[in-house]
Amino acid sequence: MSVRAERYLAEIGIAVYKRRGFDAQRADAPAEPASVATLLAEPQPAVPSAEAWERLAAEVRACTLCGLHKTRTQTVFGVGRRDAELLVIGEAPGADEDRQGEPFVGRAGQLLNAMLRAIGLPRSEVYIANILKCRPPGNRDPQPDEASLCTPYLSRQIALVKPRAVLAVGRIAAQWLLQTDAPIGRLRGRVFRYGESGTPLVVTYHPAYLLRSPLQKATAWTDLCMVKELLQRRA
Ligand code: URA
Repeated sequence: MSVRAERYLAEIGIAVYKRRGFDAQRADAPAEPASVATLLAEPQPAVPSAEAWERLAAEVRACTLCGLHKTRTQTVFGVGRRDAELLVIGEAPGADEDRQGEPFVGRAGQLLNAMLRAIGLPRSEVYIANILKCRPPGNRDPQPDEASLCTPYLSRQIALVKPRAVLAVGRIAAQWLLQTDAPIGRLRGRVFRYGESGTPLVVTYHPAYLLRSPLQKATAWTDLCMVKELLQRRA
């Protein structure tokens, strides 16, 4: 592990213990072909990507498909490199995100940024989006109909970014993307294949959970190492 990574790990409160052979087995574990969600992008006409992004962003800004539009301050579309290798998918905007119009800007976002930096991927290098583009009141869990109505927007973002890997953060995002009710402890630590393109998908704990349960940061670190390893493989 590089000195830089160790520094960041210390920053997010993970004690570094050196172990031989660490993670090699897990990172090489066979991908999961079954039980994979096939939430495909709806067929879109071929348009230049900048135009497609603008069209999508405008649709999201004006969206009234579910009741959440009545209580939102603004929609939270997504942020980052449109050609990112890594797409991070969270659950839904919280109060800070609803106010600022950007995903993961609160305390959980600060931790997410530090976790990404620790694997050499600053926030500016990835793309970050949520399952829901509007804040559920009182930060309640997204309802299935809200997630269903919002997912085509996310699918179009995925189709535009064409990431080499997806990181699903938190139980809600993971269960929705993989269309499973398996507990997050059984979803993390392995590589799924997502969608028709079979993009590798790794699940990890939500940073808000890690803020409450700091002992799990070390486990989340192994998930991030898996992502890093996937990205380092030849395309
Ligand atoms: N939690 C999420 O899942 N997404 C955000 O954007 C903020 C907090």
